[in-house]
Amino acid sequence: MEKPAQVEYPVHELIGRRWSPVAFSGRPLTGSDIASLFEAARWAPSSFNEQPWRFIVAARDDPEEFARMLSCLSPGNQAWVRHAPLVILTFAKLAFDRNGKPNRHALHDVGLAAENLVLQAMSMGLFAHQMAGFDSAKVVETYGVPGGFEPVTAIAVGYPGDADSLPEDLRRRQHSKRARVSLGSLVFTKVWGEPPDFLGA
Ligand SMILES: Cc1cc2nc3c(=O)[nH]c(=O)nc-3n(C[C@H](O)[C@H](O)[C@H](O)COP(=O)(O)O)c2cc1C
Repeated sequence: MEKPAQVEYPVHELIGRRWSPVAFSGRPLTGSDIASLFEAARWAPSSFNEQPWRFIVAARDDPEEFARMLSCLSPGNQAWVRHAPLVILTFAKLAFDRNGKPNRHALHDVGLAAENLVLQAMSMGLFAHQMAGFDSAKVVETYGVPGGFEPVTAIAVGYPGDADSLPEDLRRRQHSKRARVSLGSLVFTKVWGEPPDFLGA
């Protein structure tokens, strides 16, 4: 199912087509597909090239591992993620390797790696849906996450599926309209709140 962004100005096709579905087909990903997703993430930029991102992955074709990861997600997310073929947890290393000081941009950099992964997935005919709805303490305990690392997001990845078999509330979400605030309220020039001329104000 397509839900293209209603853009005010032209954007790259992958950005326009990306959205966060709740309906996934059970079709599994190959190992090489999965590796490509993380390769894309690995080549994201980061502050001081610290690469503060880490990932834990579970595929649905390993039912025990998949159930373990699913159990860390909020019940609302479990309801649809259980159909997805792949789930990823992302983590941030909170201190710099170079000097042990706090890395104020670690979460930002994990977000950059995540978006690389999401767009790589889109380029392969896959979709990704990121989540904050998970139990962070349970993730740390379940996976033995060392101190100094923080769980950031979960990401479900898979081929697009059919929402017809999902419960009514999820079907509604699958079909709901996508919305964004206008560019004029996001981009300023000279002083906070003043929109730039190129936005046609
Ligand atoms: C950091 C982050 C956390 C999110 N958490 C959840 C979540 O827990 N459950 C969920 O269904 N969607 C979650 N989303 C998806 C957003 O609701 C979605 O990206 C937003 O509504 C915009 O829709 P779009 O991605 O289809 O453009 C999250 C997205 C991000 C980036």
